[in-house]
Amino acid sequence: MQPPLKDLLAGSQLFGELAPNELDVVARAAETREFARDETIFAMQEPGDGLYVIASGRVKVVVSTTGGKEFILATLGPGQFFGEMALLDDSPRSASVIAQLPTSAYRIRRQEFDRLIEAHPGIARKLLRELSLRLRRANAQMESLVTLDVVGRLARYFISLAKQHGQILGNGWVAVRRPTHQDIANSIGTSRETVTRLMTELEERGLVVNEGKMSYLREEVLRSEGE
Ligand code: CMP
Repeated sequence: MQPPLKDLLAGSQLFGELAPNELDVVARAAETREFARDETIFAMQEPGDGLYVIASGRVKVVVSTTGGKEFILATLGPGQFFGEMALLDDSPRSASVIAQLPTSAYRIRRQEFDRLIEAHPGIARKLLRELSLRLRRANAQMESLVTLDVVGRLARYFISLAKQHGQILGNGWVAVRRPTHQDIANSIGTSRETVTRLMTELEERGLVVNEGKMSYLREEVLRSEGE
C-alpha cells in the first residue's frame, strides 16, 4: 500500500520543506499515474505539460541514437522528479521517459509548478541543486565514454547505480535491483552480449555479486569519488 500522497510529497526531493497546508494544496493538484514495466510515460519531442514525482518504482531517461538505438542518460527512483526541463525552457521534451520497473508517479501541472517555484524560493534552490548534480553526472558519463574501456564503464555503472538506488543492508553490503543486460548496455554504449560476458569478469574481480534480480556491492563503494 502507498502512503498518503501528502506524505509522499513531504518525503520527495523538491517538496520536503513545504508546510502541511501547502502540501495539501499540492496533493490536491497532483494526479496519480501508474505505469507498467517498459511503458512509455512520455516521448521525446512531445510538448511538456507537467512535472512528475516518482512515488515508487524506477524510470529510465532515454534518447534514440541516429542508428535507432536507445541511449540511457539516467535512471531515477522514488522521491525524484522528471519532466521539469520542458516546463522551464518552454521546449519539447528533451528525452523519453520509460518505466524500468512498475512505477507509480504523481503529475503536477505546469501552472501549479510555476506557482510553486515562484512562491517558494527553497523549491527553486532544490531544483537548481538537482540540475547541477545531473549535469555533473552527465559530465562523468561523457568522460567515461571517452576515457574508459567497456569493463571500466561497467564497473563505474554499478558503483553509480549503488550510490543512486542502492539499499544499505547494514552488513557491509548494498543491494540494488539490477537493470536488464540490454538496459545496462544502453547506458554504457555497448552490446547486450558484451555486458553478459563482462558481468562474469566483475563477479570474478569481486566487485559485484549477482543473485536473482538483485546485485550486491560492498558498502565502501559508496564512499568512492565521483557520481
Ligand atoms: P523534460 O525535457 O521535460 O523531459 C525529459 C526529462 O528527462 C527531462 O525533462 C528531465 O527531467 C529528464 N532528463 C533529461 N536529461 C537528463 C539527464 N541527463 N539526467 C537526468 N535526467 C534527465
